[in-house]
Amino acid sequence: MMKEKIDKMLQELDQVRPGSKEEVEQLRIKYLSKKGEITALFNEFKSLNADEKRTMGQLINHLKDTAQAKINELKLAYDTTGNAVEAIDLTRSASAVELGTRHPLTIVRNEIIDIFSRIGFTISEGPEVEDDWHVFGALNFPPEHPARDMQDTFFVEKNPDILLRTHTSSVQSHVMTTQKPPIRVLCPGRVYRNEAISYRAHCFFHQVEGLYIDKNVSFADLKQALLYFAKEMFGEETKIRLRPSYFPFTEPSAEMDISCDICGGSGCNFCKHTGWVEILGCGMVDPAVLEACGIDSKVYTGYAFGMGVERIANLKFKVKDLRMFSENDVRFLKQFEASL
Ligand code: PHE
Repeated sequence: MMKEKIDKMLQELDQVRPGSKEEVEQLRIKYLSKKGEITALFNEFKSLNADEKRTMGQLINHLKDTAQAKINELKLAYDTTGNAVEAIDLTRSASAVELGTRHPLTIVRNEIIDIFSRIGFTISEGPEVEDDWHVFGALNFPPEHPARDMQDTFFVEKNPDILLRTHTSSVQSHVMTTQKPPIRVLCPGRVYRNEAISYRAHCFFHQVEGLYIDKNVSFADLKQALLYFAKEMFGEETKIRLRPSYFPFTEPSAEMDISCDICGGSGCNFCKHTGWVEILGCGMVDPAVLEACGIDSKVYTGYAFGMGVERIANLKFKVKDLRMFSENDVRFLKQFEASL
């Protein structure tokens, strides 16, 4: 008898076609409210004997679940104000997915990393907020030495010990103090300098620096690695030239120029009619730096180099105004799609 009731209700539930949100609510009341038919069945169930309970229990529970699911499903056809929600049209064509593009600086950074990873460099990253020791102290900038003025530093909360890194050489300090040679790392990342913002300078930019420490590393190894990089990045025809320079953490130090990619060396505004453009600083790691970081400078030597990603991107993409890279103008950013 109870079984017939259950079957009948299941059949009804299968066939109901309510026409409004209110009718769905009435259905809920009819079956599932305190005075509803299913609730009544549960009351009836209490008076069954143990045998009957065993067979009916499952059926009643199944009925209740079915009713609940059906009502939930019917409710979805209406929004909160009771208006019918349009049925989903499964035959409609999908809307086009808009693909984003990589930022030009990301494209160039990835390319630099890719080139050096082919000769065994791995990536190390570190914090942008640093202490003085990792940015300057370990790298042979003596306290109060004017060399610190080379890089206009942003200090954090007037505490002269906490600052925004001015170069990713700070990551090299971390690597040298925590790893044993041979070390061959690339340190990509954002750096900060307190400069007036113009088309050619910004208060933050991006660098990739490299460090190689092992027994018998020589300046010839450095030159070879940089020549390989220049050719991979700017084409087989590219020439390099190293000019003597100064950095506190390298000795000897040099700046590297490449033959101007824009005029091909014949002279243009970009290379100031010299045929050459500067792209990076480099040198042999100063023994004092190795010692400060706990590496025996009688056993090991090393080279380091550092370049600005914006600078390389400028050359590669001929972007005249550096500020474009941080303005997030989609019309600008979209243009690099093809370089991915
Ligand atoms: N750290 C230097 C800078 O930011 C670049 C550099 C790195 C120079 C390594 C020499 C060796 O300007």
